[in-house]
Amino acid sequence: MANEVFEAVRTLMAIRQYADRPLPADVARRIVEAGQLTASASNIQPWHFILVRERDALRKLGSLIRTGPYTANAAAAVIVAYEKEKGEFGISDASRAIQSMMLAAWGDGVGSNWTGFAGRLENVRVEFGLPDVYDVLAVVPLGYPKQKVIGKKKRKPLGQVVSAERFGTPLS
Ligand SMILES: Cc1cc2nc3c(=O)[nH]c(=O)nc-3n(C[C@H](O)[C@H](O)[C@H](O)COP(=O)(O)O)c2cc1C
Repeated sequence: MANEVFEAVRTLMAIRQYADRPLPADVARRIVEAGQLTASASNIQPWHFILVRERDALRKLGSLIRTGPYTANAAAAVIVAYEKEKGEFGISDASRAIQSMMLAAWGDGVGSNWTGFAGRLENVRVEFGLPDVYDVLAVVPLGYPKQKVIGKKKRKPLGQVVSAERFGTPLS
């Protein structure tokens, strides 16, 4: 039987080229809502999400993220910050929220990607007015894909990364 959630996971790809097409407001809102609804350790929700849609601000983001200059051409982007004092839990929680947002976006045909990483986006934190209690984990550019997405993943074979019951026992 078809499983839409699995299909979304199977076909989700890192999308780095975006069509010149804005995101409808309700679609953009649903994406950040997917982040807000995500579970976190002890339900502390130690995060903040900034939805960026203005072109000048997207260009600024593109200039600040060394590994994500293409954010400048996205229809929108979400800056994902976590409370620094929550440490690894904060990173784990915010990472899970990113996956929720990427999958929710994909459900509406919107491509996305993860750019940057914790401890390396201080320039983004300062530029976008996030208080010092936060660290920016990542910026997630969003946009309808410029090209048709093939969805062919390059992954290690299942048998190499999954065991049954004990390490090394193949899953039949
Ligand atoms: C934690 C994490 C950090 C990433 N950082 C970047 C990044 O800074 N820039 C970028 O273009 N892609 C980044 N990516 C995207 C990965 O390179 C990409 O998902 C991976 O190569 C697999 O490709 P696929 O998602 O299209 O299957 C990141 C992905 C993850 C999960």
